Amino acid sequence: MNTLRMDLKIVIDNAMKLYKNKVDSDIWRLRYHVMPPIGWMNDPNGVCYFNGFYHLFYQYSPLNCSGGLKFWGHAISKDLVFFKDSGIALYPDEPYDIDGAYSGSAFVENGKIHFFYTGNVKKTGNYDYIMNGRENNTIHAVSEDGVNFRKIGTVIKASEYPDIFTKHIRDPKVWKENGKYFMALGARDVNNKGQVILYRSHDLNNWEYMGISAGPVDKIGFMWECPDYIKLSERNILLISPQGLEPEGNLYQNIYQSGYFVGDLDLETGKFEHGEFVELDRGFDFYAPQTFKDEKGRRIMWAWMGMPDIEKGYYRNPTVDKGWQHAMTLPRELVLKGNKIIQKPLEEYKNIRKTYFIKKTKVDGQTSVDGLKGEVFELKVEIKNLENIFTVNLRQDTMISYCLENNIISLSHGKSGYGRTERKVKINKLTTLHIFSDTSSLEIFINEGEEVFTTRIYPEKGFDRISFDGKADIKIDKWEI
Ligand code: FRU
Repeated sequence: MNTLRMDLKIVIDNAMKLYKNKVDSDIWRLRYHVMPPIGWMNDPNGVCYFNGFYHLFYQYSPLNCSGGLKFWGHAISKDLVFFKDSGIALYPDEPYDIDGAYSGSAFVENGKIHFFYTGNVKKTGNYDYIMNGRENNTIHAVSEDGVNFRKIGTVIKASEYPDIFTKHIRDPKVWKENGKYFMALGARDVNNKGQVILYRSHDLNNWEYMGISAGPVDKIGFMWECPDYIKLSERNILLISPQGLEPEGNLYQNIYQSGYFVGDLDLETGKFEHGEFVELDRGFDFYAPQTFKDEKGRRIMWAWMGMPDIEKGYYRNPTVDKGWQHAMTLPRELVLKGNKIIQKPLEEYKNIRKTYFIKKTKVDGQTSVDGLKGEVFELKVEIKNLENIFTVNLRQDTMISYCLENNIISLSHGKSGYGRTERKVKINKLTTLHIFSDTSSLEIFINEGEEVFTTRIYPEKGFDRISFDGKADIKIDKWEI
């Protein structure tokens, strides 16, 4: 262990001793989502299945709950439901990643996990850190046991990227296809256009630049973060998190977006022909998703249940005062239906269902159902014979409301949103709502995952309302979790 890592470890161990109790006593700590032990969390990284365990790494800043120096935190699970904190996997402790072990991916082969990530280096001086002053090395690390991690070193030096790009190239996603290894990286060119570039390799060590794979796309941002090429139903899909989209009606309302293109990737030329950009989530807190294929062949995605630069925009999370900030979404299975990604909560989450409540009822105006309430729960509502408007009221002041006339479904919060106000999306009709409520989060799957609203909320303790309004016949299934 190098001396810098030893020093960092001592400082973090001390911070854990000082702050862990305070963090854990916060009423907004989540019950069934992965959170940073202390401090700050952002992107999921290196998600994979290896030797009987699921590994979820993440951007972790233990010493600063507003961001700062990034490490790779690590959580392990046997069943994709219960995750155990496994400490820090990667420290920013080498000259090539000294200002942050930034986002990256995992690739499992021959009894090893290979990690590729961005080593962030910031020079001191008068720089803009876009055109100059920054290094963004692509680093290779390995693990033979999922517990110990060894950095091998730089495979693409910052100086080796083509000079049509700014210093913003990062977030390598590596996969193998047709006997070759491929690496997609998110990039911002010198004209401030976001795109994805592609490299290929025979040995995971020497990487050959293939060119621009996707983008730029008119109006779709100045930088594309966290690319992920996946296959669903034999189509290629590129997930990206672009920065710099202007709001357009109900679309692109958050400071940055996450979404996808469906198309065809030619691995000989590296070029991706694709359709339109579609947002993955319609809520307030969803960014930088990453996927892996599990041993059953399912494509599983996590996203950061948060958003960068939120203070600049509209809200501040009150957990900052409690010594922590942000969390991961639940893992979701992705399937393609037509040209649309459908997101489904994992089957495994049925295992944490407790007390069951079932009821069929008529909603006619303000309607409460005897015995129906909850803070930490799973709720399914099937909706039939809807007339005009149907609303679900949850927790302190959250409202999910659908209007038949314009087919818009909206999610809104009052005080408990801490600045989060309203998000909307147009759908064809409303048939089901499937809601996962945790102490301070909501994930709302509309029509079996056709659209999803993901949001953090910070209700005061004891607000456990579940009630309805409007006109419809509904069937309720609810489980405490
Ligand atoms: C996305 C991101 C990545 C970067 C990481 C740094 O949220 O900005 O592009 O690698 O976070 O933490």
